[in-house]
Amino acid sequence: MKNLVLLTGAGMSAESGISTFRDSDGLWEQHKVADVATPAGFAANPARVLSFYNERRKQLLEVVPNPGHEALAALEDYFDVHIITQNIDNLHEQAGSSHIIHLHGELMKVRSTGYPYKEYTLTPDNIEINIGDKAEDGCQLRPHIVWFGEDVPQIEVAIKEVEKADVFVIIGTSLNVYPAAGLLHYVPKGIPIYLIDPKEVNTNRKDIHFIKAGASEGMDILRKILLDQ
Ligand code: APR
Repeated sequence: MKNLVLLTGAGMSAESGISTFRDSDGLWEQHKVADVATPAGFAANPARVLSFYNERRKQLLEVVPNPGHEALAALEDYFDVHIITQNIDNLHEQAGSSHIIHLHGELMKVRSTGYPYKEYTLTPDNIEINIGDKAEDGCQLRPHIVWFGEDVPQIEVAIKEVEKADVFVIIGTSLNVYPAAGLLHYVPKGIPIYLIDPKEVNTNRKDIHFIKAGASEGMDILRKILLDQ
């Protein structure tokens, strides 16, 4: 089977009801990145940061995968599908996709603020972490999220996946954030590249087939293109 490798972003989950970051109603219109998504923000006001991610988890429990997530999972009948996602939700997993790299961490996981750290998976009946909640090493727990300014430990694994792609697909990301956006440079020359987004995304490349649609409609179009080939 051919390798279908995807890079997904917040737009993938928009039709499930999770806000994107940089659209006009996006999360970064309501919260300052520096306050809730940087190590300095956590050091300055850990309670605010923990509460921000507690809210995100509460929201995640209220939503379900959309037809775009489901269509993507169904493509595993025809392709070796490898998803590299910038999303911290688990909607790809819930839809049944098997190979997912979370570049920016996972909302349902937490870890120690100490080092080396162990990760813990939260259960739906226990989604809050608060000041005073500690890991086994005695250190405060924090969200298992890659904040701005932190290393992206999964980037090397993601690059290796991209280098093996026979088809590469980008869905619902403004490609503003590196190193994720730089993965495009590792796509093997000459393979088909598709980009699904309702808005224009500036890639400075002419070899990308742009499918101007939301994730669900776009996946429907892409499925037909891929299965007709
Ligand atoms: N279907 C597909 N794409 C959509 C939809 C939809 N229904 N609705 C919006 N989009 C597109 C927008 O047009 C935009 O191009 O999704 C993209 C969302 O871009 P961003 O909000 O910048 O999200 P993303 O690229 O995932 O952000 C990257 O930035 O803040 C950090 O860590 C956070 O992982 C995030 C990273």
